[in-house]
Amino acid sequence: MPSPAVPPEAEAGPGTARLQLPGREVELPIVVGTEDEHAVDVSKLRDRSGYVTLDPGFGNTGACKSAITFIDGEAGILRYRGYAIEELAERSSFVEVALLLIFGELPSRERLDRFREMLTEEQLLHEGMRYHFEGFPSNGHPMAMLSAMINACGCYHPELLSSEMDEERLLRATAALMSKVCTIAAFSYKMSQGRRMEYPDPSLNYCRNFLHMMFSRPHRRYEASPQVVRALSQFLILHADHEQNCSTSTVRLVGSSGANVFASVASGVCALWGPLHGGANMAVIEMLQQIQAGGDDPKSVVAKVKDRKFRLMGFGHRVYKNFDPRARILEQTCSELLDTLGISDPLLDIARELAEIALTDGYFLERKLYPNVDFYSGIILRAIGIPLNMFTVMFSIGRVPGWIAHWHELYLDPDRRIGRPRQVYVGPNLRDYVPIEGRKA
Ligand code: CMC
Repeated sequence: MPSPAVPPEAEAGPGTARLQLPGREVELPIVVGTEDEHAVDVSKLRDRSGYVTLDPGFGNTGACKSAITFIDGEAGILRYRGYAIEELAERSSFVEVALLLIFGELPSRERLDRFREMLTEEQLLHEGMRYHFEGFPSNGHPMAMLSAMINACGCYHPELLSSEMDEERLLRATAALMSKVCTIAAFSYKMSQGRRMEYPDPSLNYCRNFLHMMFSRPHRRYEASPQVVRALSQFLILHADHEQNCSTSTVRLVGSSGANVFASVASGVCALWGPLHGGANMAVIEMLQQIQAGGDDPKSVVAKVKDRKFRLMGFGHRVYKNFDPRARILEQTCSELLDTLGISDPLLDIARELAEIALTDGYFLERKLYPNVDFYSGIILRAIGIPLNMFTVMFSIGRVPGWIAHWHELYLDPDRRIGRPRQVYVGPNLRDYVPIEGRKA
């Protein structure tokens, strides 16, 4: 078995950058990554000059060196551990991709089989976890349940709470998290429906087993078609990692304090929930449904977006400035799935019309706004039968391997320090304390 991947040192750069500050000049090293990405290393800037950098939203800040995922946003390139996303989506399974992300290499057959057994062993929830569910209102949001239950999982795995993980423990933690998120997600769905939980079936593979727990009933077993399984597997692969996005950065920040993998991954779920991040897949469908219900034509919707009345959900990306390769693959998957299932979804027609108008409109072209991964993914999830309020849960299931990979890479990183940014204070200067009688109403 390969050992967990240690991030290699980025090369010392081709020299230094000189920063001219009032009254002084500071020399800062240049660092170059394996894909020729250049960075100015400012880690000693404050020591040498008293200055800090200011970069709200971190659009220009490299928070770490990472060997997991490479994105070239200008060229629309996404690779996991050097493998093109298009090839992985076509040829690999989600479980293989998870091991690739976390351990750095595609698994051998033997290793894959062993990990599949571990996934099966970890499928069931401890009976104590079932009681937690009973405390939630049946209409509670599944993302709130998911983050709470992932964190609670740590109580049942005390042996996995240390960040000092050897190979075997990391494998066990990965199996526990990947299996349990599926069981938790399906459990929350059944509870919202007032139905009995379907136990996992160890004879099924990862995607089939999840669909079985979601859709089988005691009197009617759900048999997933190969097309549905393939679409789900591709969806999960394409969501498995995306370098230093909001939720992954959250996982790294939480993990940097030494927090355990369950707590760190639970924090990732919370960060993913927002509509600007993973919550966008739900927001896209809500937007398309509103357009459909209101009879608005896509042209007037685009006009309203340009008037800044709202944002076109599923459009735009901090990093992709040409196209999002995940959206391209998912558009194709979406068409194929709907065709083979014989579904005609009017929302797909609206989505395509919106995309066509936006992609030729100056507002979107100037700002380099293109459909992102969330634009078509919701239509796939609808076709599979996933309820709308679980869309971001599906994104979370896909992202778990990426979060674990980053959490562990951080742990191995010799440059690791607790994440603790600085700020530029703009509040009041020192002033006298005001007794309560003298305060304004
Ligand atoms: N619709 C209309 N205008 C937009 C959109 C949009 N979806 N996204 C960005 N803009 C405009 C924005 O108003 C701004 O214009 P101006 O410069 O005139 O003020 C310009 O484009 C730059 O926007 P920004 O907010 O500075 O860009 P950002 O890199 O901070 O935000 C984003 C990236 C993904 C949050 C944003 O594009 C957005 O809100 N998109 C809609 C939500 C969405 O689909 N999120 C999913 C992202 S992909 C999956 C994931 O990572 O979870």
